[in-house]
Formats: sequence, structure tokens, C-alpha cells
Amino acid sequence: MRHIHNESLWLATAQRPHQSPLAHSVEVDVVVVGGGITGMTAALLLKRRGATVAVVEMQRVGYGETGHTSAHLTELVDSRYVDIESDFGHDAARLVGESSRAAIEHIERWSREFPCGFERVPAWLYAEGDEDAHGLEREVEAARGAGVAARFTREVPLPFPVAGALRLEHQAQFHPMKYLRGIARELPGGGCHLFEESRVVEVHDGEPCRVKLASGVELTARSVLVTANVPVFNLLALHTKIAAYRSYVVAARGAKMPPPGLYFDTADPYHYTRRHEDERGALLLVGGEDHKTGQCDDTEVPFTHLQRYVIERFGSEDIAYRWSGQIIKPADGLPYIGRNSASDNVFVATGFSGNGMTFGTVAGMMLSEAALGRSMPWTDLYEATRMKVLGAVKDMLVENVDYPVHLIGDRLAVPDRTADDLAPGEGDVVLVGGRKLAVYCDERGTLHGLSPVCTHMGCHVAWNTTERSWDCPCHGGRFDAMGQVLNGPPVQPLEARPMTEPTGALVVDENAEPTGALT
Ligand SMILES: Cc1cc2nc3c(=O)[nH]c(=O)nc-3n(C[C@H](O)[C@H](O)[C@H](O)COP(=O)(O)OP(=O)(O)OC[C@H]3O[C@@H](n4cnc5c(N)ncnc54)[C@H](O)[C@@H]3O)c2cc1C
Ligand code: FES
Repeated sequence: MRHIHNESLWLATAQRPHQSPLAHSVEVDVVVVGGGITGMTAALLLKRRGATVAVVEMQRVGYGETGHTSAHLTELVDSRYVDIESDFGHDAARLVGESSRAAIEHIERWSREFPCGFERVPAWLYAEGDEDAHGLEREVEAARGAGVAARFTREVPLPFPVAGALRLEHQAQFHPMKYLRGIARELPGGGCHLFEESRVVEVHDGEPCRVKLASGVELTARSVLVTANVPVFNLLALHTKIAAYRSYVVAARGAKMPPPGLYFDTADPYHYTRRHEDERGALLLVGGEDHKTGQCDDTEVPFTHLQRYVIERFGSEDIAYRWSGQIIKPADGLPYIGRNSASDNVFVATGFSGNGMTFGTVAGMMLSEAALGRSMPWTDLYEATRMKVLGAVKDMLVENVDYPVHLIGDRLAVPDRTADDLAPGEGDVVLVGGRKLAVYCDERGTLHGLSPVCTHMGCHVAWNTTERSWDCPCHGGRFDAMGQVLNGPPVQPLEARPMTEPTGALVVDENAEPTGALT
């Protein structure tokens, strides 16, 4: 077996020059928080409509979920058309299909300017068992009713038996980082800016809006688009309507390759598969094995399951890349895109599930129009302030029960390890002088102590072995081993704690104030 790259294939194969952080105050028409596909699409559309824009990205462009995707482009959304039709009605299902199609067409148009391996391919949603296959016949009917040209088939070109499938022509795949790299080159100039390593900590609605960075520098703008994948500055409303999951991907060489196409199964946990060609030949990408963020004891297990799946179904042990990323599921099955609650000039986009390449593009198109005071045919359907719960009310309550359970339970739990138990490269919440600390032991054996209290709303973080990160089980916030924010909703790092606490009574609780402000 060759060396496995523990990094995303897309980030490893589309490098580009660094952009500087924002060093002094800037005034523009629109500030975009976040340089993923959503923010970059919105920003370039705005520039092309004559607006001045500044994108502020806390890491580097694409280093969020856009760089960790599998980049299937399809009208087959994670929420089935059967459910969308019964929960939202026939017209809504039609608009979901229409907006997804418009997003793929948009990416296809821009891919002519920004070469990114865009390729039209068919898609299959397949079932291995007869019962699931029967369910797919109903989904075909609902999809067709929504204007999605699906058909039922028992012919699926996979190297293992399948009971039946929904087949859809003219879907697509691409290299998301090559696409973003093209946009990133085009954006700066003409009053538009792209700032990397610039973390936003406050957004204030108003005329003008004010956006404050961790460095203290401020931007002012007529409108702000918060495209951070999660609602980082919406403490009370939106994060209660979404849930964060980690999803895993492996890319293998030497597999029994199916023809180019997008393949999704109906299993639980589900799998998604596609090919990617590089200069060394074909890679098979297989993803899935999702779990709620911060709630998996051993994050090697999902990778092991995926590797076993690739060996059993596609006959390859040669894993070249493996990575994982965050998927944000909405309570009622549709993304939240539009004006932020209680704001006039701040707009948000989140809850894309596993369709954020298309829904992110839809959001980029919608928010760029919204910032200019215009609406689109999908504006009402995806409205961010909606409270559509229907059958999803139960699921939403179940998702949000995590917050009080972890807030109290994890604080009361007494660690059974001390810092002495940590091997190089390992982290854990341990006891240090009677105090609970999140401690990381680096490769040289030096211990780094942090408060385990998530700076979003005070839950305790847990160590993620594979990615060497601190993950919060409540709303999916993540921090690197040294406590810097990787994923919102938190915007402030974990607080550093000295490793030399005096011995005393066990401290099981610490106060933490929510730190992301939107006023
Ligand atoms: C494993 C996996 C597979 C997937 N497969 C597919 C697929 O096949 N098809 C599909 O359509 N979708 C897929 N998705 C979903 C899709 O990748 C995401 O929904 C999409 O990339 C989200 O794009 P975004 O621009 O909204 O967010 P992101 O790409 O995450 O961009 C948000 C940016 O905001 C920045 N940011 C956050 N907080 C701050 C702050 N305080 N200040 C400044 N910047 C900040 C982040 O660093 C980040 O770069 C997949 C996701 C994963 C994880
Ligand atoms: S992400 Fe909300 S408390 Fe940690």
C-alpha cells in the first residue's frame, strides 16, 4: 500500500498564492464573511454588477468545507422530492429542482472562464434491497412531478448487484478548488478585495454595517453577507434549526472503476461515489459514514469502514487520500438563505446538507441579488427566518436536546486520565491539579493546556484523534489542537490555561460567555 495523504485531494492539487490579511479599515458596498463557494460566488457576481466587495476569510479561500467536499453536482437533493412535496407542496419541489439546475448551469458557465474539469455525467440513486428499490419508484414519480427528468432502472454500472435505481442524465462533477482559484484570481481589483487569515468576530447591522476582525480592524459596508457555512453571528435563532455532522471521504487508485457518473446509495449510513482523473490515472472517491460532530469516540472508525467498503465493493486497498468535513443539516430539509432575523442589511446562508456545491451557488446568486435589494424566484422558499417545522419538529427537538445534555453532562463528567497519560500527538480532557483542562501533547512531548469550555455557548469540547482537533458536541464548533477556531459557530479561540495549576479541589465548571456578536 502506498503512502496515504491525510488531506483533501482538492486542497492538495490546487495551490495558489496567499492573499494578505486586512491591515487597515476599508469601506465597500458589501462585505462577505467567508471565502467558500457561497461567498466567492456572491462576491464575483456583485463585482460584475458594479459593486465594490471585500471578502474576509479567517483561513484561506476554500479551506472550509468547499475544500473538503466530494463535488457531486446534482438536482438529487438529500431531502427526497417525496418529502419536499409533502412538507412544502408541489411548487416548492419544482423550485428546488429548478434552483439546483440553475446552480449547475452557473458553474458550467463559469467553468469556461475558470477551467476546473467540469464534466456532465449521469447520476444514480440506487438501492441494494428490494424494499428500498420500491421506495425509489415513488421518488422517481415525485422527482418527475418536480420537473426533474428522472427514470427508474434496474441497470446500474456498478461492480456489485443493485436492486433498482433512479437515473438522471446531465448532472455534473468538477474540481472545486480549481474553480475557486479562478474566482479568487478574478476578484481583487476595481475596488474589490480578498483578505485571508482575517477572522471576523463581530457584525453590527446598521447604516452602514460594521464588521470587526479579531485584529481590531473594522470594515464598513451597506450590506454584509455571512457565508461562513454556519450562522456565526446569529446566537439565538439559526443555530437551533441546524445540526453539524462530520462526513468522510477516501480516494482510491486501482479500483474496479464504474463509468463516469455520480452514485448515491440509500443505505444507512449512506455512501456517495464518483471518479476523478489526475495525471496518474483514475481515482475512485467514496464518501459517507457521517456522525454528529464531537460525538464519535474514535474518528478512525469511519475511515476504517469506508476503506473496508472500497475493498469489498471496488476491490482496492490503495487509498491515496482521505479527509473529512462538516455537513450542516437543516431542521426542515431545505437550506436557510436570506435576510438574518432582526437585521435589515445582514444576510446569511446555511443548512446545505450534502448539496452545498449547488445550494452554495444558489445562495451566492440569491445573496448577491439581495444585497442589491432584489429578489429571486426562490427567495420565499429558502427564507432564513422561516419557522417551518411540520414533520421535522420532532427531529429538530431531538437534535437540540444535545445542547442541554452535553452542557450539563460533559461538565459533570470526571476525566479518568491525567496529562501524564498522553502520548505525543494525542489530546484529551484530563485532570491537571484538580482542574479539567483540554490538553494536547505535541510531537516533541510538550503539553499545551486549554479551557475545555467552547467559546460559543459553553459546552465541553472532545478530542478528535484523526484530525487532531477539539470538537464541540453541541453545535459542531471545532478548534485546532492549539485552540484556534476551525469551524463556527464559535468565533473566539479556546482560552489558554497554564499547565501548572495548583493542586486543589476538582473544578468541574467554568463560566463562558458567548462571544460572537451580532447587533
Ligand atoms: C465530506 C463532504 C462531502 C460533500 N459532498 C458534497 C457534494 O458531493 N456535493 C455538494 O453539493 N455538496 C457537498 N458537500 C457540502 C459542501 O461541500 C458544502 O456545503 C459547501 O462547501 C459549503 O460552502 P460554503 O461556502 O457555504 O462554506 P465553506 O466552504 O465552509 O466556506 C465558509 C468559509 O467561512 C470561513 N469562516 C468561518 N467563520 C469565519 C469568521 N468568523 N471570519 C472569517 N471567515 C470565517 C471559513 O474558514 C470558510 O472558509 C460535502 C461536504 C463534505 C464535508
Ligand atoms: S458549538 Fe455551540 S456550544 Fe460549542
